[in-house]
Amino acid sequence: MRLITAVIKPHRLDDVKEALVKVGVQALTVTEVKGFGRQGGHTETYRGAEYRVDFVPKIKLEIVADDTRIDEITMAIRDAAQTGVIGDGKIWVTPVESLVRIRTGDVGSAAI
Ligand SMILES: Nc1ncnc2c1ncn2[C@@H]1O[C@H](COP(=O)(O)OP(=O)(O)OP(=O)(O)O)[C@@H](O)[C@H]1O
Ligand SMILES: [Mg+2]
Repeated sequence: MRLITAVIKPHRLDDVKEALVKVGVQALTVTEVKGFGRQGGHTETYRGAEYRVDFVPKIKLEIVADDTRIDEITMAIRDAAQTGVIGDGKIWVTPVESLVRIRTGDVGSAAI
């Protein structure tokens, strides 16, 4: 299992969700976040120290999925979230050691 984390533009969320449902994603977590990429983090200097200002609102998606599904899900997010304008976001993938469905006690892939 792996965790797919994606940071996207808020106005792409509905289309991304639709694309994910189309490729069979049944569960995801969405969080309202703020961040900056290469251009967004305007910096300001105050008494010699540099401060970052102007965080931009983004949406963070988290999906735990089976290894075999990662490429398809990643591409679905990429295609639905892409506008071609700076700030479209990032997708990264990390290993997941364990997963438990709390209601049933199912573990591993069976808990996805
Ligand atoms: N390396 C990173 N680590 C963690 N979060 C990131 C990283 N890069 C981008 N993000 C998150 O994604 C959001 C959008 O990043 P953004 O798309 O502006 O990246 P970028 O590298 O500047 O690409 P672009 O040139 O297309 O704007 C940021 O506001 C931040 O929340
Ligand atoms: Mg950027």
